Amino acid sequence: MAAINSTVNFGQSLSEKILLAKIKRLESEKQRLWEKNTLQQKTLITLERKLAKFDEIKEQRDWLLDEMTKKIGELNHYQSEFFKTEKFTVIGEMAARLAHDMRNPLAIIKNTVELVKLKHSSKIPTELLHLFVSIDNASSRLVFQLDEVLNFVRRSPLECDEYSLCDIFESAINKIVIPDQIRIHKPTNDVCLFCDRQKIEAVFTNLLMNAIQAMENCGDVITQFSESNETIIFTVQDSGPGIPANMVDKIFEPLFTTKSRGTGLGLPVVKTIIQQHRGTISVTNDPTVFSVSLPKGPF
Ligand SMILES: Nc1ncnc2c1ncn2[C@@H]1O[C@H](COP(=O)(O)OP(=O)(O)OP(=O)(O)O)[C@@H](O)[C@H]1O
Ligand SMILES: [Mg+2]
Repeated sequence: MAAINSTVNFGQSLSEKILLAKIKRLESEKQRLWEKNTLQQKTLITLERKLAKFDEIKEQRDWLLDEMTKKIGELNHYQSEFFKTEKFTVIGEMAARLAHDMRNPLAIIKNTVELVKLKHSSKIPTELLHLFVSIDNASSRLVFQLDEVLNFVRRSPLECDEYSLCDIFESAINKIVIPDQIRIHKPTNDVCLFCDRQKIEAVFTNLLMNAIQAMENCGDVITQFSESNETIIFTVQDSGPGIPANMVDKIFEPLFTTKSRGTGLGLPVVKTIIQQHRGTISVTNDPTVFSVSLPKGPF
């Protein structure tokens, strides 16, 4: 009986042992898996952190790329502006010197013609007198163009006072030749403006000349003044063909002209003068209207 018991005991302890060994293995496997899991979790967290950092770096890289593209654009712009300014400074200086030097001989031509007319008026045949008028007109045109060049390159400071705009307009009209078939409708009201008289007169002269030239000697120019508390607006409208759509953006650029005898400095000079007075100028088609808006000043 004792032998049987010992066999049974022996058998139980063996299966127990096997079971225990299995449990132990399972437990160590569990421990190993747990450790592996912990390690994997840690790796996962590190990876997630790295991924977040990577996203951050990617965002920073995109921002830097954007900034760099912007800065390169700005740099290119400033570079071309710089070269343009440099070029204009040199051309401007040359033009100013040339214009200045040409003014004297031109004045001599004009004065000599006047002198000949005065001294020999009785003896000059009518035919010759017509030629004198042609010389006079051509010289006046040259003086006007030289003044335009000088006005453009030498941006002289304003000499302002309170003036009647109708008075200035009248002086401007008296300085230009108005063809018979052109009707100038003057402003019906007067307004006062704190401004540089000579310069505002040049604005009127240029806008009127452009209107007359655009209409090819026949049509209507309507000029108007209006005012609000702070601002004065004057408009010059003509019945000409207008400005082609592809040229509207260019007409205020220096040297842009569609005329064989134009210098393309009229509107740039006008724009500079208006800017000096802290005003603005704009243009619309159908009909062609140049609108100038100026603060009443003093500024
Ligand atoms: N009232 C207008 N109607 C149609 N086109 C115009 C008018 N005013 C200006 N322009 C256009 O704008 C261009 C530039 O004018 P801007 O006065 O600067 O120079 P210009 O008249 O050609 O020459 P300049 O005034 O130096 O003799 C003109 O050549 C013309 O094509
Ligand atoms: Mg002009």
